[in-house]
Amino acid sequence: MEVIRLPADMKAWAKEQKAAGKRIGLVPTMGFFHAGHLSLMRLAASATDKLVVSLFVNPTQFGPGEDFAAYPRNFDQDSRMAAAEGADVLFAPADRDMYPEGFATVVSVKNITNHLCGACRSGHFDGVATVVTKLLLLSGADCAVFGEKDFQQLAVIRRLVADLNMDVSIVGHPIVREADGLAMSSRNSYLNEAQRRTALCLYESLVLARQQAAAGILDASELAGRIREHIVSHDGTAVEYISFVDQRTLAPADQVDEHTRLALAVRIGKVRLIDNGLLLVR
Ligand code: PAF
Repeated sequence: MEVIRLPADMKAWAKEQKAAGKRIGLVPTMGFFHAGHLSLMRLAASATDKLVVSLFVNPTQFGPGEDFAAYPRNFDQDSRMAAAEGADVLFAPADRDMYPEGFATVVSVKNITNHLCGACRSGHFDGVATVVTKLLLLSGADCAVFGEKDFQQLAVIRRLVADLNMDVSIVGHPIVREADGLAMSSRNSYLNEAQRRTALCLYESLVLARQQAAAGILDASELAGRIREHIVSHDGTAVEYISFVDQRTLAPADQVDEHTRLALAVRIGKVRLIDNGLLLVR
C-alpha cells in the first residue's frame, strides 16, 4: 500500500490508473478504524479495481468547542488495517495541503441540511461537502462508499454529486453494530465503562420504536415521547434530537410509514452519539 500525502500526487496516481483503464473506489474516513470502516473498504474493493482510503480529520467540519483536537488518531494502526484490507493507497494529507493559504471555496448543500445534525452543528455539512468534493476529485473515484450511520451526510453527498454532475456512484453501507447493538463509531472510544452501558439506550430506542410501530402506534410525537422517556431514565444523558423523517427528503414525518427513519442524537456525558434506522419493513 502506498501512502500519499500530497493532493497533487493523489491526482497524478489517479490519472495513471484511469489511463490504465482501472476503476477507482474511495472510502473517505477520519481514521481510528473499527470494523465498520473495514466493511466499507471491503465493499469498495469488491466493486472496483483499485482502493483508495482517505484519512483526514477535516478541521472545517468541526465547530468551535467540538472535539477536533481530541478526535482519536492512530496513524500506524490505521495504516496497518487499511493495508490488510488490500487498500492500494492511503491518502493522508496535511491540513495545510488541503486548505492552503488563500483557500476560499465552500460547497454548501441547502434544504436537507436544515434538519437533524445540520440544525445542531452550524457549518458542519459545509465542511463535509467541501472536503468530500475535494476527495472525490483528487482520488478520481468511480465509486465512493459511506456508512449509513451518518445518513444525513450520505444524503448531502448524494445531493452534491447529482447537483455538480459528478461522475461517481455513491454507495451507502448499512450500519455496523457491536454485538449488543451499539452502532460502531470512532467516538465510542471516548466512553467509559458506565457510559458505554448507557450508550445502548440509542439502539434500545430504535428497537422500542420498531416494536411500538409494529403494534400500530404510528404517531411520531407519541413515539418520540416514549423514546425520550426511555433515554432520560438513564443518568448522564441529554437528548439533542429525536426525529422521525422521510428518508427520501429528510422532511419531518407526523405519521410513521415505510419511508420513515428514526434519527437520534444523544449526549452521553460529553460524548455525542447518533443512530438511525427505518421503522417499518413491509
Ligand atoms: O464520515 C466521516 O468520517 C467524515 O465526515 C468524512 C466523510 C470522511 C468527511 O470528512
